[in-house]
Amino acid sequence: MPLFSNPLEAAAHRLSILPPMLDYFGVMGLHALIAGMRLGLFDALRGGPASAADLAGSLGLDRHATDVLLRGLTGLGYLRARGGRYRLTRTARIWLTTGSPACLAEGLYFWERTACVIWPQLESTVRDGSPITSLYALTESEPELSRSFQAWTAAVAGRQAPATASAIPVPAGARRMLDVGGGHARYSVELLRRHPDLRGTVIDLPQALESAAAHPRLTLRAGSFLDEDLGGGYDVVLLFNVMHCLDDQEVATLLGRLAKAVNPGGTIAIGDQFGDSVMPGRASRTLVDLLHLNYLVAGGGRLRGYKEVARLLKAAGFTRPRHRRPLRSPATELAIARAPR
Ligand SMILES: C[S@@+](CC[C@H](N)C(=O)[O-])C[C@H]1O[C@@H](n2cnc3c(N)ncnc32)[C@H](O)[C@@H]1O
Repeated sequence: MPLFSNPLEAAAHRLSILPPMLDYFGVMGLHALIAGMRLGLFDALRGGPASAADLAGSLGLDRHATDVLLRGLTGLGYLRARGGRYRLTRTARIWLTTGSPACLAEGLYFWERTACVIWPQLESTVRDGSPITSLYALTESEPELSRSFQAWTAAVAGRQAPATASAIPVPAGARRMLDVGGGHARYSVELLRRHPDLRGTVIDLPQALESAAAHPRLTLRAGSFLDEDLGGGYDVVLLFNVMHCLDDQEVATLLGRLAKAVNPGGTIAIGDQFGDSVMPGRASRTLVDLLHLNYLVAGGGRLRGYKEVARLLKAAGFTRPRHRRPLRSPATELAIARAPR
């Protein structure tokens, strides 16, 4: 959770009385969070409040160091402390306890690798504009990293899928849906649940599909959406969090192929972060800018603004592009368009 400064602290930063320590603290906060998860502190507090001594005793940890870590996690917003006992905040209960559908435990390994192995080479990307790795070549060659990446994206999708699915206009009588780079398949499954006559296909790389959710009306197809025949006759196409991993030529070619694969009047829904969106504040604006850097350094993609996406949709032959921001889907906005009748 980001640290929010009070007016006094904010003024101290503006006046440069304090060094810019919060950025270092961000890295330390990530490690404190990962340590808390791996040591089992969040799960141990699921049943109710406990003291540092109780937790250190039951988990076999050093009592003093445990207390210091618990205080750090309290400051970061994951725990609350009262009368020497700690309890979970709502954030920690939803995102950090195993058994919660949105648990990020497995996904933290992906961010640890990203922050500690990939990002230290950011300088090189900024010098010459080239990514230092190809994320999906890496995830396909490392099953543990792939599982962690898919667990992270699935946890986010699990929270956003209901709001997102209700914002997608599925044409009356729709029968077939294609989810391009659908990975864990949570968005497809939510649409299938709402539309009993729909059948779906997720196309993604083989390792990614190892993490896909199962549904009786869902087919998983292993292969690259850049090379494979995508088929045709779809009423709905999803392209969620995929465009930002592609270069301009790949986007234009893929959208052109999808335009041919969609039935007249069918829907394409692109879900992504849009670089030109008005954000509610500086923290969310900065998050999007840092994600953009992440796409550059880790994969060679880039964020596009909604206006650019709408232009690309029209250039590919889609009509009536619209921008949707489902309230409960803060990390994924939608560009929705139709195939002409
Ligand atoms: C950021 S994830 C998005 C997953 C899901 N659509 C979502 O929004 O949560 C991008 C997905 O695209 C897949 N992908 C990337 N390049 C691909 C390619 N050339 N062919 C098929 N899938 C690909 C990745 O394996 C990954 O599952």
